[in-house]
Amino acid sequence: MTINHPSFGKLEPGRVIIFDTTLRDGEQSPGFSMNLNEKIRMAEALTELGVDVLEAGFAIASPGDFESVKTIAETIGQRADTPVLASLSRAGAQDVLRSAEALKNAKRKRIHIVIATSDLHMEHKLRLTRDEVVAATVESVKLARNHADDVEWSAEDATRSDFDFLARVVEAAIKAGATTINLPDTVGYAMPADMEAMYAHILNKVPGIENVVLSTHNHNDLGMGVANTLAAIRAGARQIETTINGIGERAGNASLEEVVMAIRTRPDAFPYKNNIQTKNLLGLSRLLATVTGFDVQPNKAIVGRNAFAHEAGIHQDGVLKNAATYEIMTPESVGWAKNSLVLGKHSGRAAFRDKLNTLGYKIGDNQLNDAFRRFKDLADRKKVVFDDDIVALVDDEVMRDHERIKFVSLDVASGSKREPKAELELEIDGVVKSGSATGDGPVDATFKAIQSIFPHTANLTLFQIGAITEGTDAQAKTTVRLEENGKMVDGQGADTDTIVASARAYVHALNKLLVKRERTEPQALSA
Ligand code: KIV
Ligand code: ZN
Repeated sequence: MTINHPSFGKLEPGRVIIFDTTLRDGEQSPGFSMNLNEKIRMAEALTELGVDVLEAGFAIASPGDFESVKTIAETIGQRADTPVLASLSRAGAQDVLRSAEALKNAKRKRIHIVIATSDLHMEHKLRLTRDEVVAATVESVKLARNHADDVEWSAEDATRSDFDFLARVVEAAIKAGATTINLPDTVGYAMPADMEAMYAHILNKVPGIENVVLSTHNHNDLGMGVANTLAAIRAGARQIETTINGIGERAGNASLEEVVMAIRTRPDAFPYKNNIQTKNLLGLSRLLATVTGFDVQPNKAIVGRNAFAHEAGIHQDGVLKNAATYEIMTPESVGWAKNSLVLGKHSGRAAFRDKLNTLGYKIGDNQLNDAFRRFKDLADRKKVVFDDDIVALVDDEVMRDHERIKFVSLDVASGSKREPKAELELEIDGVVKSGSATGDGPVDATFKAIQSIFPHTANLTLFQIGAITEGTDAQAKTTVRLEENGKMVDGQGADTDTIVASARAYVHALNKLLVKRERTEPQALSA
């Protein structure tokens, strides 16, 4: 059966629409907020990845959210290759109108409406009866259709809803004009067999269901997000909602890279097409880790550092003889470079640019110059510069060029015979400021010096140091967690000097805190 969709035209039965919600559901996870520049950067990379629908935000949530949906609509939304841009709304006029306003200038747009359909949510959260939920659905979908041809309606907590009621409200949403129907496992409760039962029920009971796209959106509370998404595809879903690195509320959402590579690696089980450029997956995962400050765990499927590493001798032997013995997809197909080509101080700009490309980074000439300068500096201090060093360097400096507070320099005197003292320079909003402090160790002195230049009330709740590669000349990678008024942010820094890496991580965390403050209190920008 071919669906005639307002945004995609005639949809062949074998086509799966990839809906990315990294910038909306993903961003809702604690500590993962992104500023406007970071969102635009992510939106560009997601567009180049080939997502079909990009949920840019929840326009009514805050003035900052509205601005980012609007700006993405006015930039990415003007490109010839723009994905359909979506904004989330609850089932009420104000929300729908706010989304419509934010998306106004996008060439391709979708208003996404959500309302809960489980008795638990309707009674205790919404305090609405079933009839009232049906009425709110109909009204809001009709209103949305006045502003967009493409309207998605989501039944929050669908998997814990009474399926007969779910069928009733889905039918009402379709009659009111919804063109995509999404049945989320909002709390990550379902098992794959439950997904099959739910989609079968809706497909059997709802007249007109064959004319809309059925969608799936699964959380990971029991680690079932990807399995449930794949089960939903087999049960009839033709749109999947995912996030990069699986970020999202609580335990996160089904991860885009895992679902896409499962489909691609097992065409026998999933004979479906999508537009994802899988070679971009690693770069995008890294970009997200950089802007949020959260790395993926080393054993994360597809994009984790160990995803294609073979440690056991017997495995290494097999891979050398024939990679297919232990690799079910090629590392290159998801963006990993063929080898860890070592760069050194004699490597030129072309080799460096080439390396950045193979690592999944696309950066402009100015940023390339900065990165190359820092690479040369590192190569002077370190015999060999590995891929991981370059990733840390680019992430640490170049991707953060829009931040308000920048690390400039640090001089620390310490040892067993003297009180540690740090002298530090930071650039704040373009003005270089200096400060100094003593402390209980060089790191403590450094953090106090930062505090003296940029006073703040955040508490340091985590400080971690790791080595990026091996050897005593390895770069240190540090993580600093700050908490202020219940808001938590993680910052990361890298340098061959552990104390400099610590200062960079602290500064990164402070910048993220500023983004958080800006979102909740637009005026509270100064320290
Ligand atoms: O998890 C959920 O139910 C959602 C909806 C807004 C789709 O995120
Ligand atoms: Zn969700």
